[in-house]
Amino acid sequence: KRIAVLISGRGSNMRAIIAACMDPDFPGEVVLVIANRPDAGGLEMARRHGIAAHAIDQKAYESREAHERAVLDVLEAAQPDVICLAGYMRLLTDDFVRRFEGRMINIHPSLLPLFPGLDTHARALAAGMRIHGCTVHYVTERMDEGPIIAQAAIAVEPGDTAEMLAERLLRAEHRLYPHALRMVLNGEVRMVNGQAAHRRRAQ
Ligand code: GRF
Repeated sequence: KRIAVLISGRGSNMRAIIAACMDPDFPGEVVLVIANRPDAGGLEMARRHGIAAHAIDQKAYESREAHERAVLDVLEAAQPDVICLAGYMRLLTDDFVRRFEGRMINIHPSLLPLFPGLDTHARALAAGMRIHGCTVHYVTERMDEGPIIAQAAIAVEPGDTAEMLAERLLRAEHRLYPHALRMVLNGEVRMVNGQAAHRRRAQ
């Protein structure tokens, strides 16, 4: 299966996905990386792996729609089966989201539905959470609210700062995202009537 990854920055989750795809048993390969900023560090890394990596600079377009159309053209040419948002910090229009419904997934650094949006680590600490985590979910029109595919939790340790928590959680993200992507590619989870339908494993 063909995977496209959309990034905005360092792309460490993208790198984890690319690394997972190197396993011959992994049911997909990354065929395309797109960044909405030309300085996204992940682009260079993808190119080193021989993956087509495009910077489609949002500043070069007069509107969100025009930028998205350019992204869409490149995406559709690559015919991805699944699109992974990995730190893609730009809101997508409803049209774009609907077009790829059930085929576009995102990783969010909290245990959704807790803490959608930004600053999740500081907010988890401020709330006195003793666990924190990350969620891979289908992308729907409502930000950070799509049906949940998989989650991983970590313990909040005494003395943790938001930075320490972010760093520890990132390692869990790097394990979770490839795992969740594999579930989607294998059909272990599908989006049915706006919900995630998980296949029960054989006993
Ligand atoms: C991750 O924490 C991810 O959960 C969030 O943005 C960050 C992206 O990091 N959506 P990277 O670009 O994958 O390193």
